[in-house]
Amino acid sequence: MLHIQVIHGPNLNLLGLREPEIYGSQTLEGINQALQNSAQQLGVAVDCFQSNSEGALVDCIQAAWGGKDGILINPGAYTHTSIALRDAIAAVGLPTVEVHLSNIHRREPFRHQSYLAPVALGQICGFGAQSYQLGLQALVQYLRSADPASSPR
Ligand code: DQA
Repeated sequence: MLHIQVIHGPNLNLLGLREPEIYGSQTLEGINQALQNSAQQLGVAVDCFQSNSEGALVDCIQAAWGGKDGILINPGAYTHTSIALRDAIAAVGLPTVEVHLSNIHRREPFRHQSYLAPVALGQICGFGAQSYQLGLQALVQYLRSADPASSPR
């Protein structure tokens, strides 16, 4: 069975309360629950992790090496600042999909750059909580086409 590490960056623990006009009303717990439901339907296993600390996020990416098949990450504001997260993803070499609730490209100019996008398979943004669902589907499809042995029979 494929194992996916889901990673949420800083301030995403406040979803539901935080700027709901931008990020929607769903809580992080709700997003994680919806991902678990989809994972069950897809026949994959999902582990969810959130931290506000850059180092803890780097540790989580490093820990995925060996045990996980892919990473689904919303790096929050570290998207726009963190060479450390980018290097961690490049180091472990795991297929990674970057997701954002908001469309970062139609917001402030400082959000237009992602340090992670060049080391990700792709980026999905602008669909609210649905971005995570689309990202999970894309990652699982990619992993299954890359390794036909992991497809459900
Ligand atoms: C975000 C976009 C980032 O620019 C912001 O700092 C976040 C959330 C999103 O999901 O839309 O914290 O990653």
